[in-house]
Amino acid sequence: MEVVPLTDADEVGRIAADVVETVVRRRADAVLGLATGSTPLPTYRELVRRHRASVGPSYARVRCFNLDEYVGLPAGHPQSYRATIARELTDDLGIAPDRVHGPDPAPDGLADAGARYEAALESAGGVDVQLLGIGSDGHLAFNEPGSSLGSLTRIKTLTEQTRRDNARFFGSLDDVPRHVLTQGLGTILRARHLLLIATGAGKAEALAAAVEGPVSASCPASVLQHHPHVTVLVDEAAAGRLERRDHYREVYDAKPAWQGL
Ligand code: F6R
Repeated sequence: MEVVPLTDADEVGRIAADVVETVVRRRADAVLGLATGSTPLPTYRELVRRHRASVGPSYARVRCFNLDEYVGLPAGHPQSYRATIARELTDDLGIAPDRVHGPDPAPDGLADAGARYEAALESAGGVDVQLLGIGSDGHLAFNEPGSSLGSLTRIKTLTEQTRRDNARFFGSLDDVPRHVLTQGLGTILRARHLLLIATGAGKAEALAAAVEGPVSASCPASVLQHHPHVTVLVDEAAAGRLERRDHYREVYDAKPAWQGL
């Protein structure tokens, strides 16, 4: 795991955008794994800015897979993750809607929605780079504490803490769905490169547990310690509880240019 301590959310966004662009330049039909929430927004804004300025790669052949989706929202709801990703990123990058996939929350297909999503991921050849945020309780995608470290895409119930954290996107806490479809921790581990981004003091404790604590279902993001290629981009506030922060900085400063992230 490579932890990269950076200054602020904008710098995190720029470096994360560099990583995504490098993957797409290397492979025009790359498979991008996308996260929602507030953390990836500076990254998405930077990718869109560069694309509009014609300095980014073409995304015409890229395929995208969302990490998760609310269950119980009407189709096309603005806070559905499908609508959010289209609005914040893929429409502006010129990625056709049929190239952007998400778990299907239609009520009559929930029992096999997870298996269908796993099959779609497999037939796309897997994810080249997966963007990830971390919940203040250590959740990864919507794998809440206690989730199996080997889990696959399935329906889950959100904790009260996550519903409260996400109430800012809805009119009130009561409007936040209780259920979600989410890639499992085992699903996420299959992606070839995991890019975790964490910004703000509210993530400091969960991030330290994920990166420096024991691997445990009590902190689902700690499962990243098992993956061979994880990059953690973290701003000063979110790095506040990392014991080895100075060492991560030394490693990053001494990194050979050819190595990349
Ligand atoms: C979103 C997701 C969640 C968020 C996490 C952090 O697709 O899977 O795990 O990454 O809840 O959310 P923010 O970035 O809003 O703090």
